[in-house]
Amino acid sequence: MGKVVNPLRGIKACMFDAYGTLFDVAAAAKAAADDLGDKSGPLADIWRTKQLQYTWLRSLMGDYADFWKLTGDALDYALAATGMKGDPALRRKLMELYRNLDSYPDAAACLRTLKQAGFKTAILSNGTPAMLRAAAKSAGLAPLLDHVLSVHSLKIYKPDPRVYRLATKTLKLNPAAICFVSSNAWDAWAGARFGLRSVWINRTGAPPENLPGKIAAEARVLADVPRLLGL
Ligand code: LAC
Repeated sequence: MGKVVNPLRGIKACMFDAYGTLFDVAAAAKAAADDLGDKSGPLADIWRTKQLQYTWLRSLMGDYADFWKLTGDALDYALAATGMKGDPALRRKLMELYRNLDSYPDAAACLRTLKQAGFKTAILSNGTPAMLRAAAKSAGLAPLLDHVLSVHSLKIYKPDPRVYRLATKTLKLNPAAICFVSSNAWDAWAGARFGLRSVWINRTGAPPENLPGKIAAEARVLADVPRLLGL
């Protein structure tokens, strides 16, 4: 029998996607459930889908606007699509909730375990630096993160390879020494295509993507990540 090679050996840093991976993007609509009623679920889905589409479309159009603006544009679309446009107080409330999103319950413990074991910890996200600072602070994750990296300085969104290169440049590590954790499958695949060791957090049991790149591992929840790294 051949030797089993751990695809995550030699890792020095663990870098996490933010929205959908550490922060629960559905939490804003859930927290406003009293205002939204049975529209809460559809609004959250449309909001997120449009937000991501706008990142890809604007990148292709060569017309960057920051992630806060896109999040607002996507919310306006979602409110219109669910028949709830024209309520500025509701819009303000949802944007404020988005700024201070809850993290997933296992996010802090996962980051703490990795940091205590000597791994560098980081975020690599489409979010603006201000959004990421606010969310990390309100979720209590800020002290557990060595780096918070945003696409904003590049003015291009994931999955452009320049975004993943920003991480290797800032962390001063080879791509293969960085474990990139994302629940956004396309992001995990794109990171792997660039050369990062991607771990896909597949919370919903979705099928794998048919995209270039080979992920290193798949897990169900963030709490599984330390074990994958031998902790
Ligand atoms: C991010 C998006 C992909 O945080 O959710 O980069």
